[in-house]
Amino acid sequence: MGARAHGSTGKVHFGGLDEVSLYGTPVEAAPPPGPPDPKSSFLKNQLQALFQPTDNKLAMKLFGSKKALMKERIRQKAAGHWVIHPCSSFRFYWDLCMLLLLVANLIILPVAISFFNDDLSTRWIAFNCLSDTIFLIDIVVNFRTGIMQQDNSEQVILDPKLIAKHYLRTWFFLDLISSIPLDYIFLIFNQVNKYCRVFFNAAGFVMQDFSESFQILHAGRALRILRLAKLLSLVRLLRLSRLVRYVSQWEEVYFLNMASVFMRIFNLICMMLLIGHWSGCLQFLVPMLQGFPSNSWVAINELQEAFWLEQYSWALFKAMSHMLCIGYGRFPPQSLTDMWLTMLSMISGATCYALFLGHATNLIQSLDSSRRQYREKVKQVEEYMAYRKLPREMRQRITEYFEHRYQGKFFDEELILGELSEKLREDVINYNCRSLVASVPFFANADSNFVSDVVTKLRYEVFQPGDIIIKEGTIGSKMYFIQEGIVDIVMANGEVATSLSDGSYFGEICLLTNARRVASVRAETYCNLFSLSVDHFNAVLDQYPLMRRTMESVAAERLNKIGKNPNLVAHRSEEDAGSINAVVVALAAEAEHASRSPDRGPPSLGLALRPLQAAAFLGQRLPRPKSDNNVSADHDPQPLARGFFHKSDAAFPQ
Ligand code: CMP
Repeated sequence: MGARAHGSTGKVHFGGLDEVSLYGTPVEAAPPPGPPDPKSSFLKNQLQALFQPTDNKLAMKLFGSKKALMKERIRQKAAGHWVIHPCSSFRFYWDLCMLLLLVANLIILPVAISFFNDDLSTRWIAFNCLSDTIFLIDIVVNFRTGIMQQDNSEQVILDPKLIAKHYLRTWFFLDLISSIPLDYIFLIFNQVNKYCRVFFNAAGFVMQDFSESFQILHAGRALRILRLAKLLSLVRLLRLSRLVRYVSQWEEVYFLNMASVFMRIFNLICMMLLIGHWSGCLQFLVPMLQGFPSNSWVAINELQEAFWLEQYSWALFKAMSHMLCIGYGRFPPQSLTDMWLTMLSMISGATCYALFLGHATNLIQSLDSSRRQYREKVKQVEEYMAYRKLPREMRQRITEYFEHRYQGKFFDEELILGELSEKLREDVINYNCRSLVASVPFFANADSNFVSDVVTKLRYEVFQPGDIIIKEGTIGSKMYFIQEGIVDIVMANGEVATSLSDGSYFGEICLLTNARRVASVRAETYCNLFSLSVDHFNAVLDQYPLMRRTMESVAAERLNKIGKNPNLVAHRSEEDAGSINAVVVALAAEAEHASRSPDRGPPSLGLALRPLQAAAFLGQRLPRPKSDNNVSADHDPQPLARGFFHKSDAAFPQ
């Protein structure tokens, strides 16, 4: 695959066993032969290490593993010594410094240009020269920094020619214009040859325009030149493009989680404040360049000679008033220039305001998308009920059902879980069902694989008080586990045989016998149930015959209780039939024992049944439903953790 690194070719080999570590990690190529200069090679190595990708967040996001990162290092080495990898430590710290410098520049420059007249003071020239130099170096650094491609994120362009081509085609021109000190170049040229026409021609029509306007103002030539230089120094504000680029790159890498929405809003607010700041400076700069005409806002407010902070505060107040469309500051614009400036800041302010509102709305919506989805669903249901002209009572029930089932949040859980890996999905479902598993003795005592197999196939369902969950005599297609709620087992004559509550299950007899439902089941309270379809039921129990026998034994007991033949479920084999009988007997013994203890409810089975040897047979204690005998009898004192399960349409993928 890769090229072999030999001597000065600088190429790299990934393939041969000799150059690959035991774990398949490629090792870096040996340095070229010959006596190395220890000092220079140490420095070179240090610099190269600085330019190489390190295992920072960006690199790990891009390459995924340390092994891939190692390969990338080798690839970068092959690309040439002085190519900086975009994931290198050097680039990280460089970007950080540039970010700080950019922010400082974009805040300080407009203030200095608008409110200070020390354009030729040493500290101002020093500040400008230093920052311009750093921004020029940034261009050089950009020419040597690899490029991450949007469409092919794994392949970073490291070829210097391609990097240069890419940079020249994209941001180079803007970066250059915003970095070269046009104002100083202009001043120097002007000094060298006051009447240098060549320069004026090159400077273009913009300056001619301005010079014309200055002539109208009858200003002195030296003053005019300084003002032109001032305008030229404004070009530095084009550095804003760099700021936007760096910030969005950092945002993508370091804030790509929940915080990113807040980060975006934060960025937007900062940007709005920055534009407000610029607008404020501009409000002052224009009348200042005009020499503060008497009808300008500065003259009206008598701020020409005020301290710069006072001037800035009034200018900012004026700009903010326009931008937020609140007013015009202290006085409405009196001159044409003021009026145009006001219009400009109104437009920019309204645009920012609209952007901000859009982002904030997005943020609020994305913050609680499940609640929004729920509200939308409820609205739709309401419209449907009105469209179908449903009776009032039915509407009430539907509304209550929605409230109870979804509890104000709507998730497409099937979709969410479907997007997870199989293992992760199973883990999440197991976790979601931990409370159910703990409360259902049938699960609590069972093999963990069996539990996992069952819970991944459960489906969440909610019934309202009075709902007939199962109708006697019908053919059943699923059984239920009660997470929360009380159901009544109703016999054909309308008598309630027993009640079941949290942690119990029902509807299994029909699935075990392939016959019809032996009783009706009615919800007494709101019931949060998990259903298991017949296919999944059979598939799981075929793998765990002991669990089937356990269920059969309980079913036999139940059948016995409602006066039906327990052998209905004991048709498998002689041995099984014997087991079931023994279990029934044992359970009867348990029931009798329960009847004697004061804190338990009445016994459920015919007390004529005697324990015999069944207890011995049940050396291994079999799980049985919790509240079979009476709701109060076995009620779990530990309340179920509410809200652990998202109450959505389909609890689990089938
Ligand atoms: P199935 O016949 O499928 O439908 C009705 C359900 O009521 C039945 O399964 C049992 O799960 C349940 N059931 C019937 N009799 C009793 C009982 N005595 N105690 C508890 N549950 C019962």
